[in-house]
This record gives sequence, C-alpha cells and structure tokens, in this order.
Amino acid sequence: MKAIVIFYSRTGTTHSMAETIASTLTGEKFDVKLTTPEDVPVERLTDYDLIVVGSPTYYGTMAAEIKKVLDESIRVHGKLEGVVGGAFASSANRAGGNETTVLSLLCALLIHGMVIKGMSGGDHYGPVAVGSFDSTCEKECIRYAQELAALARKTRVD
Ligand SMILES: Cc1cc2nc3c(=O)[nH]c(=O)nc-3n(C[C@H](O)[C@H](O)[C@H](O)COP(=O)(O)O)c2cc1C
Repeated sequence: MKAIVIFYSRTGTTHSMAETIASTLTGEKFDVKLTTPEDVPVERLTDYDLIVVGSPTYYGTMAAEIKKVLDESIRVHGKLEGVVGGAFASSANRAGGNETTVLSLLCALLIHGMVIKGMSGGDHYGPVAVGSFDSTCEKECIRYAQELAALARKTRVD
C-alpha cells in the first residue's frame, strides 16, 4: 500500500513529526513518499491509499504553502473519495492554535470525501507539537501513524 506524507516546516519541528510518521508507516509496510509542498505530485495523489498532511500553525491555521497544495488539489477533486487521511500540526504555544490548524487541514480532506481518523486517547484530532518535537509528540506521531495504517488496510478495496 502507498502513503504520502506532505509537510511544510521552516524550523524543523513539523519536519520531525513528518519523518516520524513516515518512518512508522514504512515500518507498517507502506511504500511512503515524504514530501514538501513544491514537490507534491498533485495529479498523482490518486495513487495513494493514505494521505497525511502537516503544517506549523501560522495565526491559528495552516501555513500558506500547505494551503496552496490543498487549493491545487482541486485538480483531483472527486477522485479521492474514501481515501484515508490524517493531519498533524505544530505551534509555539500550548493553546496557540495547533488544534484549529489540524481541524482546518482535516476539513479540506473531508471536502475531498476522504475518511479521517480521530484518536480516543492522547491528541484527539491528530498529533500536535508544542514548542518542540519531544518524546510525547513522538509517541503521538507513532500511534497516529499506526492507527492510520490499520484504517487504510481495513478500508482498502481491491
Ligand atoms: C508567521 C508565523 C505565524 C505563527 N503563528 C503562530 C500562532 O498563531 N500560534 C502559535 O502557537 N505559534 C505560531 N507560530 C510559531 C510556529 O507555529 C511554531 O514555531 C511551529 O512549531 C514552527 O514549525 P516548524 O519548526 O515546523 O517550522 C507562528 C510562526 C510564524 C513564522
């Protein structure tokens, strides 16, 4: 199965989250592409069984670089129905908007008709980093990636 992890990062925190999610998915036997906005193969998003998107929090929402990718994804609108998706975010402050950032990303995935996954424990909407990538965040990223992998396997239609 194939997964793509799309992230933007200026100072490394969201990058560390993306790498952890990508390496966990690789461990779950997914063929994983880890990519930044300029290299997202928008037309090829339909090739993936799992799409995960991460962004730093900028003024309570996603970075413009990630919003641009989502806007460009209109080229495959209607073709991502039922694909499993997830989101993650980092912020400088504890209540600095990381959840609103994750939710804004998830809203876009829902509008594509994708299937998203919450978590009953820990970071409910998707993993978040506060201030830095620490061991708590690492655990949340690993768990989220494992749960997304399980859901993607469950919903796969051959
Ligand atoms: C333009 C800009 C806006 C930001 N807005 C917020 C914000 O609203 N809330 C917050 O907690 N942190 C904010 N930050 C801090 C970043 O979200 C935080 O440092 C993030 O972890 C950076 O991720 P990165 O290391 O992957 O680049 C902002 C940073 C920048 C550059």
